[in-house]
Amino acid sequence: MAKQFEDNYHRKFYYLRLSVTDVCNFKCTYCLPDGYHPQQKKKPSFLTLEEIQRVTGAFAQCGTSKVRITGGEPSLRRDFTDIIRTVAEQPGIRKVATTTNGYRMARHVHEWRDAGLTNINVSVDSLDPKMFYQITGENMFNQVMEGIDAAFDAGFEQVKVNTVLLKDLNSQQLPQFLNWIKTRPIQLRFIELMQTGEMDQLFNKHHVSGVSIRNYLIANGWVLKLKSNNDGPAQVFCHPDYQGEIGLIMPYEKDFCKSCNRLRVSALGKLHLCLFGEHGVDLRDLLQQDEQRDELIARIQGGLAEKAVSHFLDEGNTGMTPNLASIGG
Ligand code: 5AD
Ligand code: SF4
Repeated sequence: MAKQFEDNYHRKFYYLRLSVTDVCNFKCTYCLPDGYHPQQKKKPSFLTLEEIQRVTGAFAQCGTSKVRITGGEPSLRRDFTDIIRTVAEQPGIRKVATTTNGYRMARHVHEWRDAGLTNINVSVDSLDPKMFYQITGENMFNQVMEGIDAAFDAGFEQVKVNTVLLKDLNSQQLPQFLNWIKTRPIQLRFIELMQTGEMDQLFNKHHVSGVSIRNYLIANGWVLKLKSNNDGPAQVFCHPDYQGEIGLIMPYEKDFCKSCNRLRVSALGKLHLCLFGEHGVDLRDLLQQDEQRDELIARIQGGLAEKAVSHFLDEGNTGMTPNLASIGG
């Protein structure tokens, strides 16, 4: 193995989030409220299967053992199943995850599983179909629920569900969410809304801290699970009467970045050291031939030396990433 990817703060990066498309068919109010529009007139050309193989291979050689395939909506790629297979085939990659809006899950999750997908996260912002529509702009609640059932059916032991916490919307529905995971092995992850460059009023109107949820959980017998070394920034709670778990992702809390263990590559082949506030290191010219592997690794290592200690969101830095669809959240 080549030298493991590590930054100047001794954080090791065993986890790659790889975006394979910016395109999404949902219109989540906090992400793409007007739907997906390409940034340029010309249709963007996202990483090809070969480029995906080369970039994943280089990361795997430097200690990456987990890859999450993200978007946009990654399952909109026609070759999505081949992407999963290609990533899963790289020596050293033990976990292949994806984050999906669930739209294609009911029909395809068996096929994804067979291709080597080991972990799946699906976004569900409300258990009330009307509010689901209000938040995502799509009337897909039932289809997404069927997708989750299909994932269990296909052999996933746990499904993770992402819920962006929104004041006056889903933040009132905690009892409903808890009831839902009582008998299901779901890790429900409440994510604090993050301010992005394209947001105007939404953040001030709907941002709510996860602290009130944490207090509620603790008061009701939920216990914080100890983190193991490789765990990311989520705080996970469990309860003896519930099959499911609750994860809290609170990016505005002090020290959130200390447990950062991930790097990102965008669908256009740029290395992003953090979700927020930088332009990315272009890798694409080094993804054209297998022989470029060493040069590619050197460029990634050069980029890592620049990784900052924190995103400084808690100090009022808004982070100017336009929306999270462009970098995969
Ligand atoms: N704040 C928090 N989470 C976001 N996501 C997208 N945009 C935001 C934002 N502004 C997350 C959602 C979705 C995942 C793909 O990205 O949780 O489930
Ligand atoms: Fe699409 Fe995910 Fe953004 Fe929603 S949050 S618009 S599903 S990329």
